[in-house]
Amino acid sequence: MNIIGIIASQRKEGNTAFIVNKILEGAEEQGAEIKSFSFSDLNIKPCLGCWACHKSKQGCVIDDDMQKIYDAIEHVHAIVLGSPIYMGQMSAQGKIFTDRLFARFSPRFSPFFKENAVKQKLILSFNQGNPDAGLFKPYIDYTKHMFEVLEFDVKEVPVITGLRNGPAREREDLPMVLKNFGSSLVSK
Ligand SMILES: Cc1cc2nc3c(=O)[nH]c(=O)nc-3n(C[C@H](O)[C@H](O)[C@H](O)COP(=O)(O)O)c2cc1C
Repeated sequence: MNIIGIIASQRKEGNTAFIVNKILEGAEEQGAEIKSFSFSDLNIKPCLGCWACHKSKQGCVIDDDMQKIYDAIEHVHAIVLGSPIYMGQMSAQGKIFTDRLFARFSPRFSPFFKENAVKQKLILSFNQGNPDAGLFKPYIDYTKHMFEVLEFDVKEVPVITGLRNGPAREREDLPMVLKNFGSSLVSK
């Protein structure tokens, strides 16, 4: 099984990176091939809204690092998308990634959207400073539904809370929980 992680945060060693990488680690221990992409290392521009991706087999015309993710997406069985909560929603990087997925519904990617095609699995992971896990529930439920409409098989939506009290890497409860999400991605 091939799995990619998308770290939709500018903080290279931040909470989102820790969380996504731990989930990937759990999957790797079960034999998955993993690779992660971090917005801190990438130049990914917003969608131009030109619809060029839908008009020919070339895919998205923006020549930036999203092309590396498009190439990877064609071969993966699962994606782990991690975003911090910024102002009650996914980060701007997460939204740019999501908007650029518009090109997935293009002639270049159309073989993946045949009827009865196996859907790609998705773990949609959020993390936030506030300790209240219910605070953004309507937004998180809506976003899960949105990814299901985008033809993903959303397996888990972990929300890691309370990070204003200290970084994720210092939380002893997290590594095991996160690695279990990754390993269940391989087995489920
Ligand atoms: C611009 C900004 C907006 C934020 N908005 C929220 C918020 O609305 N609710 C919340 O609980 N935490 C909020 N936070 C805290 C982050 O979600 C939290 O620190 C997160 O773990 C950061 O992830 P990172 O280390 O990958 O950047 C915000 C942080 C920033 C920088």
